[in-house]
Parts: sequence; structure tokens; C-alpha cells
Amino acid sequence: MNGQTLHLGIAGLGTVGAGVVRLLRENAQAITARAGRTIEVVAVSARDRTRDRGVDLAGLTWHDDPIALASDPKVDVVLELIGGAEGSARTLVETALKAGKPVVTANKALLAIHGAALATLARENNTSLLFEASVAGGIPAIKLVREGLAADNLVRVGGILNGTCNYILTAMRESGRDFGDILAEAQALGYAEADPSTDVDGWDAAHKLAILAGLAFGQPVRFDSLHVEGIRNIAACDQAFAREMGYRIKLLGSARRDEQGAIEASMRPCMVPQSAPIANVDGVFNAVLTEGAFSGPMLIEGRGAGAGPTASAVMADVIDLARGTALPVWGMDPRPEIACAPRENLAGQYYLRLFVQDRPGVVADITAALRDYGVSLRALSQHAAEEAGKAASSQTVVPLALVTHETSEAAMLSVLTALEPLETVVGTPLLMKIETV
Ligand code: HSE
Repeated sequence: MNGQTLHLGIAGLGTVGAGVVRLLRENAQAITARAGRTIEVVAVSARDRTRDRGVDLAGLTWHDDPIALASDPKVDVVLELIGGAEGSARTLVETALKAGKPVVTANKALLAIHGAALATLARENNTSLLFEASVAGGIPAIKLVREGLAADNLVRVGGILNGTCNYILTAMRESGRDFGDILAEAQALGYAEADPSTDVDGWDAAHKLAILAGLAFGQPVRFDSLHVEGIRNIAACDQAFAREMGYRIKLLGSARRDEQGAIEASMRPCMVPQSAPIANVDGVFNAVLTEGAFSGPMLIEGRGAGAGPTASAVMADVIDLARGTALPVWGMDPRPEIACAPRENLAGQYYLRLFVQDRPGVVADITAALRDYGVSLRALSQHAAEEAGKAASSQTVVPLALVTHETSEAAMLSVLTALEPLETVVGTPLLMKIETV
């Protein structure tokens, strides 16, 4: 470190990078008091030198190549705020760690996919890699799991980890409109990206879940072994069925470890009871849930994105570095990656929605498939064609929803396969786990 002041080099001056510069200047006094020393940005790197970012960058060294921050002798700590699992973000983080320079990042994809190797690199070079901002923005999720609950034996971690999906699902529920309509509106308002796939297909949230699971269970989980499903297949009728049955639909991450040490992890739309606290985390808000043998169940809610919340999380890590706090990346000495158990091993109650032709024998065929795989029905509901303003005929397609008693996911997947040849079942079925949270 260069004397008393801690000098930062920031790579990436988007919403978060500019937010960090603003936060550091506006809260300088409190940050200095908490860090025990002054903290200053000395160097930056971004693609466009001319863009107005609403912060004064005069006097800072500008590097066109972000990797140069790793070797800039003025820079004590590298802030990687570029994003993406590969490319310059990965190269910068690896180069800085190899140079023994601490790194703070908000990069969930990088940690989820390369976290095991980066932990080894940080340890070999006796330096730190901190990533509070990578999960759930302003919620201190990493600190909660890695430090606050360090003494407990967590059996579960997860939550609502993508604000875009939570906003869309909430708006669908409140308006009765379809996914496509709400997505288009969210894009027009700037709440959803022009290319929304990272968010709505579940990848962003799955990256965050993988990080939380790695911290909760003390070893990184292999990202490609997580079961990931997005929200594109949720229809307006699913929200209506959920309401009638006393549930809400949430894109919910859940990672559990059993007594033998096997880990199950999935990020998928789920039904949760309307009365559960997590069912009422709405709009762009995120929530992190944990469950430990000693600490019991816990839920914290807050803003999962945006300049302010994310900058606040980045600077919390910087203050830890300024204070000299050093922790292993996954909260323990590096251990090998572990693969999650296949989704077939999951069990629970399930919601299955089908679009079916409204003619005799259709339900008999469907329930025969349930019988053949030993799945017991708990509830069944069909919305008549007239409810959607359509004339009823044997060709009319209507939504049919089934809720099962406890069964295995393997059985439900076999039921789906058995239903495929039926001409009376049209479109893509929706299978959702019912989570008791
Ligand atoms: N795009 C994310 C969200 C925030 O909608 O929650 C950054 O991970």
C-alpha cells in the first residue's frame, strides 16, 4: 500500500463505476472514519473518454487498456467493474492477482464460472479478491453468508436474485397481462435490457446463486451443474391459477446440502405460498434467504441493482481492504469444485400447467400418465374458454392446472415425456416446483 492513503484504479465507468466515484466523494468523511485512512481514485479505464458520466474525472490517470491498471504502481487496489466471465474483465482480475494486487469486483459471471481458479490464484499470490457487489446489489449477502453465519452449518441458501424478473412477474400478477407485453414495457422504461436473455432466462440470478452456494457450503459449485430455467414460459393464466390456489410465482434460487454433503441447486420459477414473507418481495427488490441449524431461517430484502446500492457494496469491500481484513475467497482455504446432484433427485409438490383441447377424455389421458408414474393429484383446475372470451368447441384450447402431492422430480419429468405424443395437449407445458419458504 502507498502510505496512508489507499489508491484505487477503476476499470469500467458505467453506472456502477461512476456510482463508486460519486459515493467516495459524497461520503468521504464517513468512509475515511470507517476505513481509518483516506481512500482516493487515482486511475480509471473505460472505452469512451468523452462521455459525460456526471462525475469529474479531471486529474485521474486514464488507461485505454484496463489491464494496465494491474501494473500501474500508483494503484493499490483494482476495482473490476467491466463485467462478463471472459475477455478483459477476466484478464484484468487474473493479472492483478498474479501481481499480488487486491481486486474488488461486482462480476457475478466471473466468480460463478471461474471462482475456484481465482481463489487458488488469490491464495498463491497472498492477496484478496472481494465481490460483495456481485450478489443482490446493496444487500450485504456475501458478508451475511461468509462472515455473519460463518460458525453455522448452513443447509440452505437462495432467494430472489434478479430484479428484472421480479419486476416482470410482479407486473404480470398485478395487471393480468402477458410476459411479452410487460417485457416490452419494461424495456421501454429502461428496467430491462434491450437483450434481456441474461436476466429473463435465469442466468444472472443463477450466477448469484452459485456464488451464495459456494460461500454457504465452503466450496465452489460447478456452474454448469445448476438447473436453470427462466420466466419466458409463464403465462397470464399461471398468475391467475396461482392466485386462486393461494400462491405467488417467483424466480427463486434454492441451494440445499443434505447430511451426506450432496448439493442440490436450481434457479427456476416456483410457486410460493402467498403468506410467505418472500412472496411479498415485489417489484425490483431482491431477497436473500438462509437456513442454518443454529441461526434458523433468515430473509433480508433490498435493492439488488442500480448505482447507489451496488457502489455501496463495492466500497464496503474497499473499506475492508483499507482496514486490512483478509478472508479466503470462499470463506475457507480453496477446495475443489463440487457438482450439484441432478434435478431428478429433487422432490416436492409440483404445479403442472397444460394447454389442452376441450374435448372428452383429455383429462383421463393426462391422469393416466400421472397414475403410471405414481404421482398423486392434490388439486386440479381448468379455466373455461368463455372466461377468456372464446366460444367453447372441441378444438378450443383451454388452460388446465394440476397440483400434485409430494413426488419426485424424476416422476414429473417422466409424466411430461408421456404427455408429449398426446395431440390434445398443445404448446409448451409449464412445470413449477412448489416451495415452502
Ligand atoms: N440485471 C440484474 C437484475 C442486476 O435485474 O437484477 C445486475 O445483476
